[in-house]
This record gives sequence, C-alpha cells and structure tokens, in this order.
Amino acid sequence: MCGIVGYIGKQKAASILLDGLQRLEYRGYDSAGLAVLSGEKFSHLRRTGRVKNLAQAAREHSLFGGTGIGHTRWATHGEVTEANTHPHVSSDEKFALVHNGVIENYLGIRKFLEGKGYEFFSSTDSEALVNLIAYHYAKEQNGTDRFFESVRKSLLHVEGTYGLGVLCLDEPGEIIGARKGSPLIVGLGDGESLLASDVAAFAHHTQNVVYLNDSEIVRLKAGGFSISTISQEDVEAVVQRVDWQVEESTLGDFSHYMEKEIFEQPTALENAMRGRLDEVNGTAKFGGLNLTASEFRQVDRILFCACGTAWHACLVAEYLIERFARIPVEVEYASEFRYRNAPLDKDTLVFVISQSGETIDTLAALREARRKGFRTLAITNVVGSTIARETDGGIYQYAGAEIGVASTKAFTSQILISAMVALYFGRLRDLSYQDGIVLIQALKNLPDQIRTILSEADHIQKIARKYADAEGFLFLGRQVMFPIALEGALKLKEISYIHAEGYPAAEMKHGPIALISETCPSLLFVNNDEMYHKTLSNLQEVRARKGRVIAVTTLDANFPKDLANDIITIPSAHEAVQPILASIPVQLLSYYIAKERNCDVDKPRNLAKSVTVE
Ligand code: M6R
Repeated sequence: MCGIVGYIGKQKAASILLDGLQRLEYRGYDSAGLAVLSGEKFSHLRRTGRVKNLAQAAREHSLFGGTGIGHTRWATHGEVTEANTHPHVSSDEKFALVHNGVIENYLGIRKFLEGKGYEFFSSTDSEALVNLIAYHYAKEQNGTDRFFESVRKSLLHVEGTYGLGVLCLDEPGEIIGARKGSPLIVGLGDGESLLASDVAAFAHHTQNVVYLNDSEIVRLKAGGFSISTISQEDVEAVVQRVDWQVEESTLGDFSHYMEKEIFEQPTALENAMRGRLDEVNGTAKFGGLNLTASEFRQVDRILFCACGTAWHACLVAEYLIERFARIPVEVEYASEFRYRNAPLDKDTLVFVISQSGETIDTLAALREARRKGFRTLAITNVVGSTIARETDGGIYQYAGAEIGVASTKAFTSQILISAMVALYFGRLRDLSYQDGIVLIQALKNLPDQIRTILSEADHIQKIARKYADAEGFLFLGRQVMFPIALEGALKLKEISYIHAEGYPAAEMKHGPIALISETCPSLLFVNNDEMYHKTLSNLQEVRARKGRVIAVTTLDANFPKDLANDIITIPSAHEAVQPILASIPVQLLSYYIAKERNCDVDKPRNLAKSVTVE
C-alpha cells in the first residue's frame, strides 16, 4: 500500500521520481505527489488520481533540483483529496515527508502539536509525523546531526508502521528514510542514491541495493549512506545485487498486465519447476528449505497462512498434501491467525504463501509463528522481500514480476509449488516411486496443456460478452475445485465489480440458491472424477431455477452438450494439476468480462497490489 520513492544525485530528481512512481503505482493509485528541494524552498506538487495526472502537472511547472521524494497513495486516513496527498509539508515549511503505513497514535501527537501552535491541513496520520519532526528540530536548535536526530527522536514516539522518506530545507544534501512494518530499500548508483518501497522503482538505474530491516533508519547522500537502528545501534549494511529484467515490467503487445500475465503462465510454471523435479527418485527437490529429510519426517501437522488469492492457493495445498502425503493440514487467514493465539502442536510446520512477500498480515503471522518457536517456510515470488528474508526456509516462485493487481500467474505457480511440496512430503512417507513419477509427468505436461487452453481465448471472450451484464455470479466446485470456485469469484468481483460468490457446489442449496435467476449465472467445474454425477445434479438444480450455466469441464468428462448454456473444455489431467488448468479459463473469463464493462482491469477501484497495512 502506497509507494515511496526518493532520489539524491546529479540528475533532475523530478523525472526520476515520476518514473519511479509510475513503476510503483500498483501499490496505490488514489493520488500522487512529489517534493523537490530547489534553492530556498520545496517545489511541491500533488494531484488526485493517477500518476499521469501528476506527470501532466509536472510538465507545466519547472521542477529543478537533484534531491526529492515522491509518493503514490492508497488512502487510509482521509479521503482522496489533494490536501491528503503526500508529500506532507510541516507547518513551518521546513520538512517534507512521504509515508507508507499507519501512525496509530497520530491523534495524540496532533493534539499535542496543535497545542504548540502547529497547523494541520489534512486528515492524514502522516501530517502528525512531519510536524513532530519539525517540533524536535526546533527543540534541538544547536545540536549536531539536527535533521537526523529530529527524525530519529520523533520515531521513538510513534506507534504503528512506517516506511518513510524525509527532506529538510536546511540539509539539501540528505534524505532520511526509516522503516517499521513497511518495506524500504536503498539503491546505490554512481554518485546517486535512491530510496523506494520496491526495487521496481529504480532497478533500471541500479541493481545494487540494501534492504532495510524493521526499526532501521538510513541517512542517504548522493555519494553513500549510513544505517543504524532507531535506538542508535550500529547496523552492518549488506549491499546485494538484484536480478532484474527491465522488459518484465513492460506491456508489449498486450492490452493489460493481467492479460499478459495470464498468457505468461506456461513460462511461469516452467520456471517454478526448473531443477526441482527429481525423476531418479520420483520426487521434488528444493534448495532453500533448510530442513533435513528426517526433520521433515517429524512434521505431524502443517498450518498454512495467507491472504486473498494466496489463501485460496493454501486451500488447494491442504487438499494436495492431505491427499498425497497424508499429513493433516489446516489453513488460516493470516489476519486471524496473528491474533488468535491458536494452540499448535509442537511438531507443526507453519507455511505462509505470499506473492509480494510484503503482505503485513502474512508477515505478522510468520513472525508470530517464529516467536513461538515453530519452524516456518514460505512460498514467495518477490526475491528479497521481507517474508523471504525472515522465514526459516522457503521456495521462490520465479513467476516474474506480477504487475496486475489481480493475481493470476502467481496463483497457479503457488498451486504448482504446493503440488511439488505434496510430492516431496508424500515420497518421504507412503507415496510410491511409481506414483511420484506419474505426478512428475503430469507436472511436466502442464505448460503445454495451458497453452492449449490459452489458444481458446477467443471462444472464452465470446462467452464473456454474453455474461458481461450479469448482476451476480456463482462459482461452484467440489473438492479441490472448491478453492478454484472461490478464486474465480474473487477474480471476477475485484476486476469487474460484479458481486460473485464461490461455494462448494453441494452447499449452494443451503442459501446462495436464493440468488439464482436469469441475471445471476453460475459457473460449475465438472471433472471426470468421483464427484461427476453429484456435480451434474447440482448443475441441474441451478437450471431448474432458470439459472444460466457455464460449465468448465475436462475433455474426458464427455459433458452432455445440452446441459449448459456455454461450455469451456479443458484438457484432462492428473487430479493434482487439474485445479491449475481450471484456473485459466476462469481468469480469462473474468478478464474479458471486466474489459467488456470498460473496467480498469490492472488497477481496480479501491485496491492495491501489495497490502502493507492492517
Ligand atoms: O502478495 P500476497 O500474495 O500476499 O497478496 C495477498 C492478497 O492481497 C492478494 O492475493 C489479493 O487478494 C489479490 N488482489 C487477488 O487477486
């Protein structure tokens, strides 16, 4: 949530900030602003709406200066107005601040400062912090490191989370950054330094980065940086090199990132499998689990935690691990687990899944599990993300940058990795070599099977046109298709704003059946499995109530043509990979429906890609 970028160096800061904000816009797109130090004052520009509005305004202003900060906002405190847009400037006009996170005790700070004569112009929590910095600065008067110390001392009073960047008029050669709970990364270039919430903001300038840890504060200059903790301990910063392909974040011939990312799935899955299938032993192998086979054999129970789409991937993982490894699995929303104080058996392994590796609730769940001494593992896509750095061991997805807010390729790659984890655990227990080999072959077939489904995109687009005016939608599936039904409903509602519900197909008659009408169609997953006839009965129940039906069905199910209004046929596959294949048409259908409704597919209203506030 919210993207921060800072630049100090020999180039014009404004254009680098705008470029960085464009690349960070997926983190929030309610409004955007920047402040550049030029001479005696800040050039301060803010606009509601997208970064392009800010860029347009910047063309009409002269924004000189090589030191600046920028922000793209996902509103928490205060509506989407220019006054609530960052950067916020202190009422003495000496400081400008960009902030990601929530200052929980801002009302108390604000009241205190108002009593001292400080004026406030926004409803944000962040404005309290910039004025607190101004207050400490005024109090320090003749102290050395006055700017740095006033930021540091202010942070000692703050409750909540932050990733921030601060400018001071009196110190044009410095930017102060700090983090607690919201990511912040330093980029080191040739005679220039950068600061951002995500390396994507500056990876085309420099790939030498330093990841800040919680409670660290950085002093950034054009020629270098220094880091300490907020309580003044020294920090030995590690400069790392990130592997970043610039073309990853460009749209190419596609209309939207979501479309591009749907079509990238064969490659994303190939990348997730590369070097991880062990055909000699009929199992999977992973480099970074940091547990031995005998330690894995001690695991009695697995708890998965995640949010949103990643939580749906956990539900699939539950099914696959219980089915192939016979280990009991539970799945919790990370936001619930972190406060629930759930009793866990000592041999429980805690697994978190997060595309971004920055989701605050998932991170908090991971920390809670570690605090209690449990072994933790993570499946994440973003290399070097906070979750990736804090977990005991993990598996990278290597799905490539996912820019569209609606998760697509990250989801299928999470399921694929879960299938490989099920295979690995299964082979440590009762799964036979032969069954392992059969599963490996099924995994290897996946990319081409997905290509087959993608070649049917025009057919799915035609179906989407017929349903684009729906007022509601039900997604129904049984067993491992139930999480795919949940995911289908989430996908459709988040990008097309059609209300949708995912249900186990049999559960539908316990309530949601009341919604079925000509304007509320249902999508059912019909596989050739032991649930086939029962699912067909559920389908008939929908039709009996004049509900239109889309069937997503496997080739070997020989689905009777007259039973559905529209049919999408997908290849038949091993039950462990069928949920991956079933996800593709549902992603495409949601995408085309949203496009038909002229929705902003990549940046749906009210959302942000990375949810770093509670
Ligand atoms: O980065 P994460 O995987 O932790 O994100 C979790 C959710 O915020 C995310 O999956 C969200 O539900 C997506 N918008 C779904 O498309």
